[in-house]
Formats: sequence, C-alpha cells, structure tokens
Amino acid sequence: MSLSAPTCIGASVSRIDGPAKVTGAAKYAAEYVAPDLAHGYVVTSRIAKGRIRRIDVSRARRVAGVIDVLTHDNRPQMAAQDDAYRDDVAPEGAPFRPLYNNRILFSGQPIALVLAEDPEAARFAATLLGVDYDEEPHVTDFLGQRDAAVAAPKGAFGPPPARGSVEAALEAAPVRHDADYYVPAETHNPMELYATTAIWDADGRLTVYDKTQGVQNAHTYLCGVFGLKPEDLRVMSPYMGGGFGSGLRPQYQVVLAVLAAKALRRPARVVLTRAQMFELGYRPAMIQRISLGADADGTLRAIAHDAVTMTSRYEDFYRQETGWSGLLYACANASYAHRLARLDLPTPCDMRAPSAASGVYALECAMDELAVALNMDPIALRLKNYSERDQHSGDPYSSKNLRACYEQGAEAFGWAGRAPEPRAMRDGEELIGWGMATGVWEALQMSIGVRIVLSANGHAEVSCATSDIGTGTYTIMAQVAADMLGLPLQDISIRLGDSTLPRSPVEGGSWIAASVANGIAATADAIRADVLRLAQGLPHAPLAGAGPDDVELAEGCVVSRADPSRRTPIADALRHARLERIEREHLTEFAAPKLAHNTHSAVFAEVRIDEDLGLIRVTRVLSAVAAGRILNAKTARSQIMGGVVWGVGMALHEETLIDPAFGRIMNANIADYHVPVNADIHNIEVIFVDEPDAEINRLGVKGLGEIGIVGVAAAIANAVYHATGTRVRDLPITLDKLRR
Ligand code: MOS
Repeated sequence: MSLSAPTCIGASVSRIDGPAKVTGAAKYAAEYVAPDLAHGYVVTSRIAKGRIRRIDVSRARRVAGVIDVLTHDNRPQMAAQDDAYRDDVAPEGAPFRPLYNNRILFSGQPIALVLAEDPEAARFAATLLGVDYDEEPHVTDFLGQRDAAVAAPKGAFGPPPARGSVEAALEAAPVRHDADYYVPAETHNPMELYATTAIWDADGRLTVYDKTQGVQNAHTYLCGVFGLKPEDLRVMSPYMGGGFGSGLRPQYQVVLAVLAAKALRRPARVVLTRAQMFELGYRPAMIQRISLGADADGTLRAIAHDAVTMTSRYEDFYRQETGWSGLLYACANASYAHRLARLDLPTPCDMRAPSAASGVYALECAMDELAVALNMDPIALRLKNYSERDQHSGDPYSSKNLRACYEQGAEAFGWAGRAPEPRAMRDGEELIGWGMATGVWEALQMSIGVRIVLSANGHAEVSCATSDIGTGTYTIMAQVAADMLGLPLQDISIRLGDSTLPRSPVEGGSWIAASVANGIAATADAIRADVLRLAQGLPHAPLAGAGPDDVELAEGCVVSRADPSRRTPIADALRHARLERIEREHLTEFAAPKLAHNTHSAVFAEVRIDEDLGLIRVTRVLSAVAAGRILNAKTARSQIMGGVVWGVGMALHEETLIDPAFGRIMNANIADYHVPVNADIHNIEVIFVDEPDAEINRLGVKGLGEIGIVGVAAAIANAVYHATGTRVRDLPITLDKLRR
C-alpha cells in the first residue's frame, strides 16, 4: 500500500493531447506529406454482385496530372491465400481482397484507384472511368431473408448453452411476454475520414500512416498481403479522429495506398469520401424475439432470446448477441438461438458495444413490458431478479455494484416521483415519459507490453503500441505512470500508435485502459527495483537493506514506506551510477480470471413528446455506472456522455437504409443518415458508483469505452411508451411510427 495516496489516478485531468489537437500540431493519417506524393481517389462498384467485364481507363489517363489507374488488371502482386488477409479480429470466412480480381461482392466495393499529382485531378478523372459489368442477381433485403437465415457457426461467439427447460417454464408461467424487436443496420460516422499515407524512406522501407485502432494488427496484415518483412514496414497512427470499432480491422484504403506506393515507387495517399466510408462495415441489423415468463410476484422463470443478424456472403460476422439475456438476471431457464442472413453486402463489423447495444436493447424493452404486465415498478422487477452471480457460469463476480446504480440513479433522477400509468405526466402540449433500463458490458484485459525510460533529469517516457482512438488513452497512461513513478504529470511523456513500440492488442472491447494501466504499474515495479538497487550503491545509503516492496517512488525519490524520511532522489541514484537513464520493457499477462467480471449501468431517460405531432425530445438522461476504479473522472464522464449521445441516435435517428433493387445504401452521407445534433441533446448526467475490485487486477480498473451506450436506447424507448402508451419496438422511433 502506498504511504502517500496517489494524486493523479482518478483526478479530473484534461487530455494531455488536447493542446496538440486544438492547435493542429497533432497530425492525422491524411496530413503527412512527402515530396512527390501521389493522390489516390477510389472508384467503387455500382452493382452489388457480378463481375467486372472491362474497365476503360483511357479517358481518365488523358486528364492532366493523372499518373496511373490501378485496377485488378495491373495492380502489383498481392498474396493468393486467405490466411494472408486474416487480421486479429477477422471473423470466420474469406476476407475481402481490395482490387484482387474482377469479382464484385457488394455495391461500393473499390474497383479502381486513380492516382494523380493532386487530389482534384484524381477525383475528376475517376468520373471518366468506363466500367462494364456482368451483373448477377443480388439479395440485400434482410427482412425478406429472415426465414432463409442459417444457424450461426459455433465459434468463439456462439450462444451460451441453454439451461433448464424453457418451453415448460414458459408454458407454466402465469405472466408471459413475447415480442419481436428490430434494430436496423447502423453506420459508424467518426469525424476523421479513413485515410492512409504511405511514404518510402531512403533505405527502401515503408512507413504507413494509417487510420487504425491497431497499428500492429495493420502491420501484420500488410506484411501478409504484400509479403513484406516486418522490419521493412512501420505503421503509425498516433492520433485518431474516432473509430468506434470501424478501425479494428485494417480497412481497404491501407491496401490501396500501399499498392499505389509499390506501383509508382512514390509516396501515396488515399483518403476515402464520407460516402465511401459507409461501405467499410456497419452494425448488423438484428431481428430478435424475446420471450419472458414470470411468476405473479415478478420472479423470472424463463428467458428465450432468438436472433437473426445480417452478414456478408464471404464472412460470418456475429458476436454474443443473445448471450447477454441469460447473463444478467437470475433465471433458472434460458435458451438462445442465433441465425445469420448472408447478403450481398460488405461484412458488418464491431460498433461500440457490439451485440450488447442491440441485444440488451431488446431484453430491456421486454423487461419493461413485463413490468407493465405485472403491474410492477421496472426497477423493482430488476431488483427482484438481481443476480450476484454470472448466470452462465454460476461464478460470483469480482465486483458488481449494479444495485448502487439502480439506487443512486433513481434517487438522483427523482424516480420516486414517477406516476406509473402511461400518459399520466404532462406539461401543456407535451406528454412526459420516464423510462429506465440496465446496461452490461465486459471487463476484459489483454496481454500488453510497456516500456518505461526514466531519465536522471526526472523525466519518464512511457510507450506502448496501443492507439488512442479519442478516448483519452494518452492521458490515463500518463496519470498512472505519474503515480507509479512518483513524478509530476508534466514530466511524463507518452508514445503510442506506432507498430515498433511494445506489443499491444487493438484498442477495442473496452480492454485497453485496464490492460495498459496495469502494464504500466508492472513495468514501473521493475524500474523501482532498479532505482532501489542504484540507490543502495550510494555511500551511507539511507535505504540499505530495503527490498523493492519496502519502498515506493514518490516526489522524485525512492522512499521507504515504513519511514519516509529514509529516501534517495532518483537523480542522485542514477548519477552516482553514471547513468543518464534506465529503461525497462515488460510484457504484462493477465491470468484467466477465476471470477465473473462485467461492467454495469442503470440508465434513466426523460422524454417530452408533442402530443399532436409526435415529436420526441430526450430532455434528460442519467447514467449511473459501475465500472471499477475510474482512472480519470473527466475523460470517463466524457466516454459515458458520448455513449449516451449515441444511444439517443440509436433510439431516435440512426438507420442505414439499403435499396433492395440496387443493393446499395441510400443514405450514405451525414445529411440523410441522421445522428443527434446539439439541438437533440439536453441534460446528460453521469454517476460513477463506488465499485472497489481487488480481484480483477491490481488497480481495480474495468474499462468504460462501451458501457455508456448499452441500455440507453431501451431506456428512451421505455420512456416513449410511458409518455404515450404506444410501444414502438423497431428502431429508430420516428414520429410516423408513434402516430400510426
Ligand atoms: Mo470497440 S466496437 O471494440 O472499437
């Protein structure tokens, strides 16, 4: 234990990368320049399925400034085996290969790259390509394929085993609720466009500035696709303007930029348009049926969750969409089914809280409907079925303070003042509704490498190949290092987003904060032992005889825990040994946890609905979160607020619309793809309940990247029902659905 309480961990520290971002010093993938930079513009397929018969590039080539047009006919060599294209987070299947052959797998697929001296020439020339196709019939109509869907393969994300006897329990249950819920496909719209700049260095090695959530994942992938030696390639992504899961897998622009650099032997840049970003992946649409059976007192007797999600023809993407249902509440009987509709679309990908955002939406709406059927308060129903154990494994939790989320959330929201009947609360023309829902996500941690270089001048550089996708990773890394090394925050510098740095998984799954924080702590232990050894080399060493666990690093010194007056300045210890710096690199691995581990939330929403027009305003959202130790109160709050805003979008606005006739996204722009704007967002309040966790990891950190969105759409949908008495089960809840 620490003699001086850590001062940085937990504090409301502003982002240390903030000044670089607001001054423009932080460079993004499309902002790196090099002499002779070639600019690429992507041409995409207008058909959803078939083959390219011919691409006529003659007119495009005649445009002044055009250097070349790459297609499957003339591109440089690429690997011929699927394995070469598989990345760390690839689902089962045969990954898409950009510009590989004449086969068209989806509308919006890249089919050519026009390369020019400036982006304008490339973009203009791209309009002059003549493409002839042999078109084949396609199927993109998800709802029409519900019955044709095939069972999801039993991979890592297969539904958990059923327990008990669901059919019999549903039959016997005095109160029952069965309904279908629908979540449409949704598209990530991070501010930064996907882009890659590939630059050759003097000795023929390639540096690739890529927008990615995993520089080492992109590195391995590119080495596979292009047969590069690992040391001949460096992938950099020091800043990222949002990813939300769309950058977990290498996206096609990175392949195109490297193809261009190889073909031209020049540096090359490819920037996608907003419309092109709609073809990179999406949250799969999901039809789900939930059946709940309960006793009259609210005791859950059965949960059945049956889902159909969409995937591509070439990969089977799915997550544990149905598994959350049987996890969350105590219930002896649970069953799950998951089928996939394979469509002529690009493969879906992870989007913030993949599977939970969709699956828990349905469960939490169904719980609200059950509470209505039982004439029971929705929180009381959840408390009645509160589970102290993971319902799949039966294991107790390392920590679970969801109860405090319900209690503190309800108190702060004023839930006790809710009139239970629908349409019972109004303010003039507006109906007022209050709804709530539970959120749940995972608390994962992954092996991670950290290097610390501690200088005699009292500065430390901490590095790891993780990304910071905008979540605040730079800042929490510096905070943890400051406390563990006993240095002020401003004396810590962070390097990340570089494939040459110590090993990191992709930044996703909400696992980086816990992983890297504990990785820094473990690496700092090694530094502390080094400093102690050096300090003990001083004449009349005050710390003679002390072991590494008897001391800590604080106030720029190595200090005895038992007697803080016994101390040696770090600078003295290093200088005496004639060392300018000491350096340690350590790979921290996490044992498989013996205990169940999740984060939880209770979300409360207030809506005000114009009774005549059906216009919905979400005037208040309160999210009470239990996620272990909070590393930074400010960035943590921002994470949850961002998730809540997205939850408002999921509830009311977002829907990727696919025209079945053309197999093409109809609203591939952010004018027609609606997301919440400032005017849609009102009061958002975030509470972090106390959740000490001595088991999950040394620092008790669980991660916050995704829990913020889970449950929000359900809380809003439940509030809309409470306001109006109308239950809309298919998202988004638009006014036409409310008024029909
Ligand atoms: Mo997150 S969907 O794992 O980037």
